[in-house]
Amino acid sequence: MTQTGASDPVTDQTPKIELVPLTAAFAPVASALHAQGFDDPWDADAIIRLLDVPGAFGILAYQPGDPAQNSEDLPLGFVLMQTVLDEAEINTITVAPAARRMGVGKKLLGVVEERLRASDVTRMLLEVAVDNDPAIALYTQNGFSEVGRRKGYYARRNSAPVDALVLERLL
Ligand SMILES: CC(C)(COP(=O)(O)OP(=O)(O)OC[C@H]1O[C@@H](n2cnc3c(N)ncnc32)[C@H](O)[C@@H]1OP(=O)(O)O)[C@@H](O)C(=O)NCCC(=O)NCCS
Repeated sequence: MTQTGASDPVTDQTPKIELVPLTAAFAPVASALHAQGFDDPWDADAIIRLLDVPGAFGILAYQPGDPAQNSEDLPLGFVLMQTVLDEAEINTITVAPAARRMGVGKKLLGVVEERLRASDVTRMLLEVAVDNDPAIALYTQNGFSEVGRRKGYYARRNSAPVDALVLERLL
């Protein structure tokens, strides 16, 4: 995966999805992806700081370029995890709008789970806005269930704050 990444739209309906560790070198790519998924994007420095925390790791998904067609690697999405002892929190997960509903999010969660199963982690946790239907669908389809709710957790620019659901998956 090139470190500049590309911002062309995904043209293939079923892109080849490759995964690499999200290192600091890819922080600008991850930051650009984050800006497409959230109202308050994280800049590259913020992503580097999160990756620097002990127990943190990330996975970047991309569609490999085709030298024959002179096309570059295309970033598809990433997940950023934080583990503490036997728990792992999904700090963020996002997929480029043009690559959604193609299995990228599912593949990212799958490789995270594989890695966590090889460690001491027994429990995955995350917070998701109650109105984020695509994310809730992704998580429930991947074995997460609700264990709590945080009132008014997410501030919204033009409306009242929104509750967060706390979801858990036991490994
Ligand atoms: C949530 C998000 C990461 C999902 O990524 P994705 O790559 O589109 O998800 P997948 O294609 O792997 O979907 C896997 C399953 O999740 C569910 N799902 C995902 N998006 C859905 C949607 N828009 N509507 C209904 N179900 C959806 C489906 O069950 C889907 O399986 P299917 O396509 O076979 O029906 C993506 O929508 C996104 O980046 N959103 C913006 C950022 C965000 O909200 N992140 C989560 C913060 S908590």
